[in-house]
Amino acid sequence: MRLPEHEVPRQKTSTEAPSADAVEFRAPRVPDGIRLWEIARDSAVLDLNSSYAYVLWCRDFARTSIVAVVDGRVHGFVTGYRRQDRPDTLMVWQVATDESQRGKGVAGRMLSGLLDRLAPEGVTRLETTISPDNTASQALFTGVARRRGVGIRREDLFPADAFPDSHEPEDLYIIGDPADAP
Ligand SMILES: CC(C)(COP(=O)(O)OP(=O)(O)OC[C@H]1O[C@@H](n2cnc3c(N)ncnc32)[C@H](O)[C@@H]1OP(=O)(O)O)[C@@H](O)C(=O)NCCC(=O)NCCS
Repeated sequence: MRLPEHEVPRQKTSTEAPSADAVEFRAPRVPDGIRLWEIARDSAVLDLNSSYAYVLWCRDFARTSIVAVVDGRVHGFVTGYRRQDRPDTLMVWQVATDESQRGKGVAGRMLSGLLDRLAPEGVTRLETTISPDNTASQALFTGVARRRGVGIRREDLFPADAFPDSHEPEDLYIIGDPADAP
């Protein structure tokens, strides 16, 4: 049975890491934009975009984004979009888990849930950018690729001088490209 578009299955699959907590995964709604902005701010790692960007994202990119809800409160999010010139590709813009919920497989399950949701619509590849010193993020995406049995590779994308301010380079990571099939 096909689930409603804004519902994501809550059950665990073999591609997900184990977790003891009851976490609900669903598409974001406009009121969640506040929590997305707070979680990004508190991460002290992510670029903090305007509050408007997060609220707007929850309206216009809800189908390609996901939140993790624990006890009725959003504790994690993935914001993504389908690339216009490559609709088989989900571009993950930001991913973050609130500090209180880290290390429990929440981020890995958000990414797998999103990919499972979009697979019937033809999304088979995932791209994201990661700065060279973000080992947690590199481990997260490497683990997602490993559990899904697909390849992952890194390419140069945006060097530091691509940005107008002081910004680390952003490397492109590609997961599930047919060319990398193991
Ligand atoms: C990166 C982040 C999203 C991981 O969230 P999480 O819910 O704790 O991640 P998970 O529990 O699903 O762990 C996923 C994998 O990453 C690994 N990992 C998580 N935190 C790690 C860390 N600090 N150092 C090394 N590896 C780490 C886990 O061991 C796990 O590996 P596995 O799949 O091989 O078992 C979280 O640390 C965070 O919000 N960081 C700040 C924001 C950020 O850097 N976002 C990514 C850039 S867009």
